[in-house]
Amino acid sequence: MSTDVQTLTLIRPDDWHLHVRDGQVMQSVLPHTARQFGRAIIMPNLQPPVVSTDQALAYRDRILAALEGTEGPKGPFTPLMTLYLTDNTTPDEIRRAKASGAVYAVKLYPAGATTNSDAGVTDLLGKCRAVLEVMQEVGMPLLVHGEVTDPDVDIFDREAVFIDRVMVPLRHDFPELKVVFEHLTTREGAQYVETADGPVAATITAHHLLYNRNALFMGGVRPHYYCLPVLKREKHREALLAAATGTSGRFFLGTDSAPHARHAKEAACGCAGCYTALHALELYATAFDSVGKLDALEAFASLNGPGFYGLEPNANTVTLERAAMTVPAELPYGDETIVPLAAGETLGWRQVQ
Ligand code: DOR
Ligand code: ZN
Repeated sequence: MSTDVQTLTLIRPDDWHLHVRDGQVMQSVLPHTARQFGRAIIMPNLQPPVVSTDQALAYRDRILAALEGTEGPKGPFTPLMTLYLTDNTTPDEIRRAKASGAVYAVKLYPAGATTNSDAGVTDLLGKCRAVLEVMQEVGMPLLVHGEVTDPDVDIFDREAVFIDRVMVPLRHDFPELKVVFEHLTTREGAQYVETADGPVAATITAHHLLYNRNALFMGGVRPHYYCLPVLKREKHREALLAAATGTSGRFFLGTDSAPHARHAKEAACGCAGCYTALHALELYATAFDSVGKLDALEAFASLNGPGFYGLEPNANTVTLERAAMTVPAELPYGDETIVPLAAGETLGWRQVQ
């Protein structure tokens, strides 16, 4: 495909890492995802977290009901549910989750690593062995927030240190366990995923493909560019873009769109998370276009993820056209507002159907 391509039709993509929250605010964000994606892996870090199959099924029902009540073009959209791994998760719960047919993965949040992670795992290989054993046996993927929480480790090094301290021993002890390194942010992470033995893959966000850590400090502190894992140096962004646009097949789209009301971000201790569900495909197309790799977008967005999860690609398509899309300054979020990533900026692509 040449760089002067004017329209781009893709097999309908999926979002393999998404936060939609719950209650009234969910109604504001869900239609954005359903307009672009056929399916999404729904993160379980609610308060309280989604730790059981029953809770995941109830959350799934609330998502489907919320979508029914919204206007605009959408769907069909299928939420793929996850469980939040804790020190107390039981092997039986994993078997129940698998048998439900609605739970597609289990999420590891190291305790204290990020938003609503207090109930997370304190010692994966110490406390969760029996559960990991069953996950490996039944083919239930483990999705990892790959950062150590050790306060002595610099925040920009937490992903690289996680590889040595957790990923390598995990893969050694559970070589057949499917593992997705979520929201990868470093060159070390990309190299690890590309070369590791066994079923390992990674999601990459649009913001980590488009921005380096300078975006956090452009003329002042920019809270809407703050997420976890935090944006890294330019050499890491370049490595992620090479991985996403390359041919390995192990990298796929996961927005990590993580809505927080404007006041919770623009605060003395602002929340981590970038809101990208509104314009995820436009952001990814802009990133791929910047290196002349639009022809690699369909594999990343629509094929590699289903391949890893053992699902068929979606049957329908979406189309983007090369046209200016100015990102709105803010959007409704329940009774409040939310500021999307790149608010006020103009992107080079726009979804038309
Ligand atoms: O930036 C983030 N926001 N990173 C996470 O890991 C969690 C997410 C959230 O839920 O807000
Ligand atoms: Zn996330």
